[in-house]
Amino acid sequence: MAEADSNGVINRWSLEGMTALVTGGTKGIGLHAVVEELAKLGATVHTCSRNEAELNKCIHEWEINGFKVSDNNGVINRWSLEGMTALVTGGTKGIGLHAVVEELAKLGAIVHTCSRNEAELNKCINEWEINGFKVSGSVCDVSSRAEREKLMKNVSSLFNGKLNILINNAGAVVPKPTVEFNDEDFSFLMATNFESAFHLSQLAHPLLKASGAGSIVFMSSVAGVVSVSVGSIYGATKGAMNQLAKNLACEWAKDNIRSNSVAPYFIRTPLVEQLLSDEKFNKEVISRTPMGRTGEMKEVSSLVAFLCMPAASYITGQTICVDGGFTVNGFSFPGT
Ligand SMILES: NC(=O)c1ccc[n+]([C@@H]2O[C@H](COP(=O)([O-])OP(=O)(O)OC[C@H]3O[C@@H](n4cnc5c(N)ncnc54)[C@H](OP(=O)(O)O)[C@@H]3O)[C@@H](O)[C@H]2O)c1
Repeated sequence: MAEADSNGVINRWSLEGMTALVTGGTKGIGLHAVVEELAKLGATVHTCSRNEAELNKCIHEWEINGFKVSDNNGVINRWSLEGMTALVTGGTKGIGLHAVVEELAKLGAIVHTCSRNEAELNKCINEWEINGFKVSGSVCDVSSRAEREKLMKNVSSLFNGKLNILINNAGAVVPKPTVEFNDEDFSFLMATNFESAFHLSQLAHPLLKASGAGSIVFMSSVAGVVSVSVGSIYGATKGAMNQLAKNLACEWAKDNIRSNSVAPYFIRTPLVEQLLSDEKFNKEVISRTPMGRTGEMKEVSSLVAFLCMPAASYITGQTICVDGGFTVNGFSFPGT
């Protein structure tokens, strides 16, 4: 997707002016989904099939439909979060703030977020208000069971017992060699990263079910998929989130709740600033990444938003890496 305007959600979710070739566009997924979806989003599409008569029939219908105009059942609703309610943990910094909360709000969701720092939270709420986003917030340490319960009560009363979207985003890193970890590190990381996500999902279940179409996104990490030297406990908490996403996907499918994990590689935020400011470390990260760079916060939030949309209605139980190719990078001989 194009990103012509750095503030613009419209451009981020548009294919306006793009050209596309879709093979096999006269039947099934190609016809009713891919060709028409791309055309509705503004792309100029070329397609092919073996049957000329069928192809001409389709072209004629596409011409009649004009596709530049969205209809009631159409593209606008499938690619929007209009009117949905969302809880995003850890929305005052990094991926939570600049990406997830603002992306969801721009796409029409009513968002509640939390963090531990009241002054920072109030500053963010004030800025969101100025920008016209519907975002409220509570002070909450998600590593505390009692505070999680209080947060969900608050969310339930704010959103009349219905929640469409839960983003378990808050997280912490303690990068140490395994032999140096102590009990406190273990409890802190497990409570902040995993227990909080598990318990908040549990608490949110009746609200997600009541909404009629619920979606949980776990902010995992590539460190939960492969070994990355940011600490074995961190990796284990993220791996546990990925497994939890699969279990909930199966257990709660009957309640129309989907559950997925998003696993970013290095994204420049306060969380990893210190690691990336080590020049040698940063150089190694980049050299291991096929795309030759770290990621942007908005490259994560676009996937998070997509997973919550009606357009993603058949996607559940997945762990999707946002990593510039890092986790698929095997051996490559220099110069090839
Ligand atoms: N940045 C990356 O490279 C990267 C890569 C892979 C995965 N991730 C994951 O993405 C998520 C967000 O990371 P980030 O880089 O955006 O982190 P960040 O810049 O440190 O921001 C974290 C946010 O969560 C809040 N938070 C932290 N601990 C909390 C707690 N116990 N209770 C409530 N709120 C809490 C923070 O606010 P307060 O501190 O004021 O509470 C802040 O708003 C994390 O789960 C992280 O593991 C990040």
